[in-house]
Amino acid sequence: MYTLPAGYPNDAFAAFDFLKTKKTLANEDFIVLALVESIGELFYEILAKGIDNAEARSLLTHNAAEERGHAHRMLKALRLRGAEPFELPPVAENPFFAMAPTEVPASDELFGLLEAGEVEGDLQYHRWAEGEPNAEVAQLLRLNGVEETRHCERVQQVKALLSAA
Ligand SMILES: [Fe+2]
Ligand SMILES: [Fe+2]
Repeated sequence: MYTLPAGYPNDAFAAFDFLKTKKTLANEDFIVLALVESIGELFYEILAKGIDNAEARSLLTHNAAEERGHAHRMLKALRLRGAEPFELPPVAENPFFAMAPTEVPASDELFGLLEAGEVEGDLQYHRWAEGEPNAEVAQLLRLNGVEETRHCERVQQVKALLSAA
């Protein structure tokens, strides 16, 4: 199993908070970010599983798939930087897996946290893009950012679907 760089908490949300303290991402931070995004995929999948409404479930599964895409984009960024390639491990071998939730019950509180988290994620990706010297890598960071706002929009749609049910 990949060992997190020194200083990183082994909870994905706390690790993302730690990444936010960095103006510029080092190569190892891109690996951590990919692993955090991979847990994001798992999180949305677990949330989707507990929801009966098919349309809401498909919106959340779409978010899950894009979080996986975000992980792969960060590994592509690593390659563009000329770093040693890194392969995304199966989720059970992700160093954040042990602290990841096994159940994610839907609630308005959770949806509110997700909306805020996704919007903040967008802003944060754009901040990292500002600090990134490689233009192609900066563009990949921005692409992830823009999609985080779309995730927020899908969560809002899910909330509306469930409250209309
Ligand atoms: Fe993401
Ligand atoms: Fe997201």
